[in-house]
Amino acid sequence: MIKDTIGIFDSGIGGTSIWREIHELLPFENTTYLADSINAPYGIRSKQEIIELSRKNTIKLLELGAKIIVVACNTATTNAIDELRSEFDVPFIGIEPAIKPAALKSKTKTIGILATKGTLSSGLFTKTSELYTQGLKVIEVEGNGLVELIEDGKIYSEEMDVLLDKLLLPLKENPIDYLVLGCSHYPYLIPKLKEKFSPDLSIIDSGEAVARQTKTILEKKGLLNIDFRQKGSCIFYTNYNPSVLNKIINPKNNEFQVKQLNF
Ligand code: SIN
Repeated sequence: MIKDTIGIFDSGIGGTSIWREIHELLPFENTTYLADSINAPYGIRSKQEIIELSRKNTIKLLELGAKIIVVACNTATTNAIDELRSEFDVPFIGIEPAIKPAALKSKTKTIGILATKGTLSSGLFTKTSELYTQGLKVIEVEGNGLVELIEDGKIYSEEMDVLLDKLLLPLKENPIDYLVLGCSHYPYLIPKLKEKFSPDLSIIDSGEAVARQTKTILEKKGLLNIDFRQKGSCIFYTNYNPSVLNKIINPKNNEFQVKQLNF
C-alpha cells in the first residue's frame, strides 16, 4: 500500500475547518478525512473511550494510506495523542487551544476559552493553561450542546442563538479581549460569535498553526509531495449521514468527494 495521503480525523465535521487550512497551504497533497460523526460528541466521553475511538480512526486512516495523521479534534488530542504516538509508527499532529498567543497579546489580561468538557478537564490542557496564563484571568466555558447542533447542520438556527446566548454570559460579564476557540467545530460559529460580541474582541483558533506544523513535519520527515503538476485529491468519509458534511465541504459545487463508510 502506497502511503501518500495526509490522514485527518475528527469526532465529526468540525475538523474540516483544519482540513481547509491544510489544503490551502498544501494544495498538492492528497488528503483523506474521517468524520466519526456517529460517535460525536467526544467531549462528553471518558478518556478511555476517547482513546479507543482515536485508535479506531487511526487504524482506518492507515488502511487508507495515511503517511501522517492530523488529529483535528481538540478533545482527542488532549486526551489521546500520547497513547497514539506510543502505539503507532506514524507522525501525529495534534490541535490544542491557542492559549499562548491569546495570553501574550491580551491587554485586558482577561481571556475567554470556549471548549468541550473533555478538553477543559484534560491534563494536557491544564498544563498548557498553567504555563501561559500566570497573572491572567481565564474564563473557561464548556460549550455543551454546540457540537451536537453543528453536527445537525443547525449553525444558523434559533436553537443555536438561544444556546449561545446562555453559554456566552460568563464571557460577556468579564472584559475579555481574546476568545480562544478550543474545539475544531467552533470556527464555524465565528460569524455568529462576531454578531454577539463587540467588534474589538479577537477570536482565535488553531487551524493555521496546525497546517504550518503539518508542513514542517512532512518536510522534516522527507514526506512532502514535490510533484506540483496537479492538485491533490481530497476524499471525505463519514460513518453517518453524509449530507451535512457534503454541505459544509461543497457549499457551491461538488468539487470534493464525500462517501459513507463503516468504521
Ligand atoms: C467533540 O467531539 O466533543 C468536539 C471536538 C473537539 O474537541 O474538537
